[in-house]
Amino acid sequence: MKIAIVGATGEVGRMMITCLQELNLQLEVLDLYASARSQGELLYYLDQSIAVQELTGKSLTKHYDYVFFSAGGGVAHTFAPAALQSSELIIDNSSAFRQDAAIPLIVPQINADLLLGYQGIVANPNCSTIQMVLPLAILDKEYHLKKVIVSTYQAVSGSGHGGIQTLEKQRLGSSSKGIYPEPIDLNVIPQIGVFLDNGYSSEEEKMRQETLKILARADIAISATTVRVPVMYGHSLSVYAEFERELDLDKAAELLSQAPAIKYHENSFITPLGLGPSNLSHVCRLRRGVDSRSLTFWNVGHNVRIGAAANAVNIMRAHALQAGKIGESDV
Ligand SMILES: NC(=O)c1ccc[n+]([C@@H]2O[C@H](COP(=O)([O-])OP(=O)(O)OC[C@H]3O[C@@H](n4cnc5c(N)ncnc54)[C@H](OP(=O)(O)O)[C@@H]3O)[C@@H](O)[C@H]2O)c1
Repeated sequence: MKIAIVGATGEVGRMMITCLQELNLQLEVLDLYASARSQGELLYYLDQSIAVQELTGKSLTKHYDYVFFSAGGGVAHTFAPAALQSSELIIDNSSAFRQDAAIPLIVPQINADLLLGYQGIVANPNCSTIQMVLPLAILDKEYHLKKVIVSTYQAVSGSGHGGIQTLEKQRLGSSSKGIYPEPIDLNVIPQIGVFLDNGYSSEEEKMRQETLKILARADIAISATTVRVPVMYGHSLSVYAEFERELDLDKAAELLSQAPAIKYHENSFITPLGLGPSNLSHVCRLRRGVDSRSLTFWNVGHNVRIGAAANAVNIMRAHALQAGKIGESDV
């Protein structure tokens, strides 16, 4: 297979290379693109060194089976539609196309069926949304979800390399606010993205709209509060959910335990530091909400893995399997 990664030097781009390596996929071509700043930098795929190329108008006129975009919405808007002239599937990590009705927003464990026979742009959802929607989809199927109230505790790597650098510098004593509106070290900041007219932030609105699109349900009431915390990797979410039907807590726990992309922790909890290289959405502290039709849980996921790179690579894998480009034995 021929693959290109745009934004290969970023937090997500580098992790995409790692996730592809973890599939041990032998690739005919792997081209890595970034800005002029990174031209010539060497990155590695299965011990083979690859020099990063500057992304230009000509770069994506080559044919690729899959092009991963992970360089922000502006780059995606400028280069992704043109890349479709010569390539089959564009998987974009930014929010540029997520709310476009014609573009599938995919979490493969939930809606991989939308990829069948599809060619074009596919949007990879927001990081907090992916880890939350995985357990909610399981519970929705059984109990019919009606309402979600979620508060997030999001790592600085969710803002890319700039977020990590900002926290590192402040921990070493810098008084510069870096990329955040307030100091992030020894602090929490209840603003991710820009504030909208309705008082919610753009990140909060993404969680609401993207959850509805992925679950293909317009009638779920969702209110999110998204907060940046001084954690390097790993988003944590406090999720409260209400359902149409009465639920049995033991049965809900069993359903979550059996779900492929979820790790359910029965009598323990997990923290971001405990995640390691996990590509799963971790659920713990499952308990009743306010009545027999509601529950609440703590949800932790590696934002750069399950929240971005691993989901993007899973989209590619699901599409490639459906299209017969690879067999189960290849990955
Ligand atoms: N971090 C997360 O947890 C996360 C989760 C979900 C989605 N996302 C989304 O994924 C995308 C990448 O995020 P990130 O965290 O990896 O950011 P990042 O660490 O800041 O990396 C940005 C990447 O984009 C490249 N880039 C910037 N401007 C470019 C240009 N004009 N032409 C070509 N390449 C350019 C950078 O190249 P240089 O190194 O050369 O500057 C770098 O490779 C964003 O859209 C982000 O919203 C991130």
